[in-house]
Amino acid sequence: MNVISIANFKGGVGKTTTAINLAAGLQKKGKKVLLIDVDPQANLTQSLGITEDIEKSIYTILRQEAFGEETNITDVLLNASGLDLIPSSLDLAGAELELASVYGREQILSQLIQPLQGYDFVFIDCPPSMSMLTINALVSSDFVLIPLQAEFLPLKGVRSFLKHFELVKKLNKKIKLLGFVLTKYDYRKKMNQEIKSQLQEEFSEAMIFKTHIRSNIALANAQEQGKDIFTYDKNANGAKDYSEFTIEFLSKFM
Ligand SMILES: Nc1ncnc2c1ncn2[C@@H]1O[C@H](COP(=O)(O)OP(=O)(O)OP(=O)(O)O)[C@@H](O)[C@H]1O
Ligand SMILES: [Mg+2]
Repeated sequence: MNVISIANFKGGVGKTTTAINLAAGLQKKGKKVLLIDVDPQANLTQSLGITEDIEKSIYTILRQEAFGEETNITDVLLNASGLDLIPSSLDLAGAELELASVYGREQILSQLIQPLQGYDFVFIDCPPSMSMLTINALVSSDFVLIPLQAEFLPLKGVRSFLKHFELVKKLNKKIKLLGFVLTKYDYRKKMNQEIKSQLQEEFSEAMIFKTHIRSNIALANAQEQGKDIFTYDKNANGAKDYSEFTIEFLSKFM
C-alpha cells in the first residue's frame, strides 16, 4: 500500500482535481484506491457528489482516536461516485484547536490508517496550508505529490513547502517527494514555459512529471457535477491528460 499526500500551500492549483482524476484513472487500470479528504473545505467530498451534511466524517474518527476511544477508520468509509472515500466535513475546521493539546497530535491519522488493508494507493487531499491536518497527512504518507500551476511565480511557495517538508521528515523518515505535476497548463503561454524551465533548473528534471495537465473547462464542469473526468467526458483534453498522467505515475511504482 502506497500512501500519498497531495499537497501545496497554494490554493486552487488542482490538488483536489488531481486526487479525483488520478484515483479514477488508477481504478480504471484495476488498482484499488482510497481517497481521504482532510481539508475542512470538504471540496473532494463535495466533488464526489456528497453535498448534504454527513453524520460521520474524518473529523469523527480523528477525535475518537485522539481521545482514546475505540475506533475504526472503515466506520466512515463511503463509496462516492464509484470511489472509496473517507469524507471530510466543515466541522473539521475545529480540529486544529481541539486537538492542539493532545499528546502525539501529529500522528493521529497515521495510527488510524495503519490497520487499512487491500488498497494499492491511498491519496490524502490536503488543505492549502501547513496546518495540523497537513502535518498529519504528511506524517502518514510514503510520498508527497505536488500539483503546481505554472501561471504565477510558484517557486517561492515551493521553497517554503520544501522547508516545512524537511521538518516533517524528522517525524516521518520514510516520506519522499514523488514529484511536481504542472496543472492548468497552456502550451501557448510563454509564462508557463518559463516557469517550467525555472523548476527544471531548481529541482532535478526527474522530479517534474512529463505529462502536464492542460487547462480544460471540462475538468471544472465534471467536478461541479460530482463526477470524475472519465465518466463526465472521456474525450475531453482533461481525460486524455489525466489518463497519460496515470500511466506516468504508475511507472514510478514499477
Ligand atoms: N486543469 C484544469 N483546467 C481547468 N480548471 C481546472 C483544472 N484543474 C482544476 N480546475 C478547477 O480549478 C479550481 C481549483 O481546483 P482544485 O479544487 O482542484 O484546486 P485545489 O488545489 O484543490 O484548491 P484548494 O487549495 O482550495 O483545495 C476548481 O474549480 C477546479 O475545477
Ligand atoms: Mg482542494
